Amino acid sequence: MRLAVISDTHGNAIAFEAVVSDLRQQSPDAIVFLGDLVMRGPQPVECLDLLHSLDPLVSVRGNHDNYFSRYRDGSDWLPKNDKDAMNLRQFMYNKKLLSADEQHWIGHLPTEYVFNIEDFQAELYHASPHSLGTIIWPWATEDELDSLHKEDSTQMVLFGHIHHAFTRNAKGRLIVNCGSIGLPFDGDNRASYSIIDIHGKNISTQIRRVSYDIEKVIRIAKDRSMPDTELFEQAVRKAVFTYSFNKSAV
Ligand SMILES: [Fe+2]
Repeated sequence: MRLAVISDTHGNAIAFEAVVSDLRQQSPDAIVFLGDLVMRGPQPVECLDLLHSLDPLVSVRGNHDNYFSRYRDGSDWLPKNDKDAMNLRQFMYNKKLLSADEQHWIGHLPTEYVFNIEDFQAELYHASPHSLGTIIWPWATEDELDSLHKEDSTQMVLFGHIHHAFTRNAKGRLIVNCGSIGLPFDGDNRASYSIIDIHGKNISTQIRRVSYDIEKVIRIAKDRSMPDTELFEQAVRKAVFTYSFNKSAV
């Protein structure tokens, strides 16, 4: 059984298209999406269409999907700080492009999923079982990694959110972060996703990195007058976190 794990497209459909093309060559049996479909990038509609075209086994909701869906039209959103004001600008941009039905669909995605095949069980989250915003870095302690599952019978945890791909073992359990398609923050500006092969108790994982036309997505952001394009441009070029109004949030 071959599973493709994709996450954090953030409205960058040029990167997503490149991943879809690479992913089709990998011929996965199933695809799972771990959230943050929209916000920060210029192409939320194209990302939604690409996601639907993949017919994923499950799509879970990310914190940015929540930002996009917690208010109907933004008139009740009173920004608490500079970062919140930026999220409101992103909300308004996305709201102009996506329909109310699409906003509702994104806002009602599940926040967790348990994947079972034969004796194998994996838990899927955007960030953690505890919230959509928990940050567990690749260099976390084993105890921190161990907090990422709920059930003792789980052999593997899959999550996104931090935009840093990694695979580690914690107390006998495999922890895999597939990285981000649209906005990697780990210094490698290629799109990131993961392929996992499950054969009974034998599991092998790979993190795949896919080059795409970065200049093209920046051009689209500028042509569409996307708010905060300069932050997006720096982030996609350098694969660094540029949204540092509050360093504790991703
Ligand atoms: Fe994200």
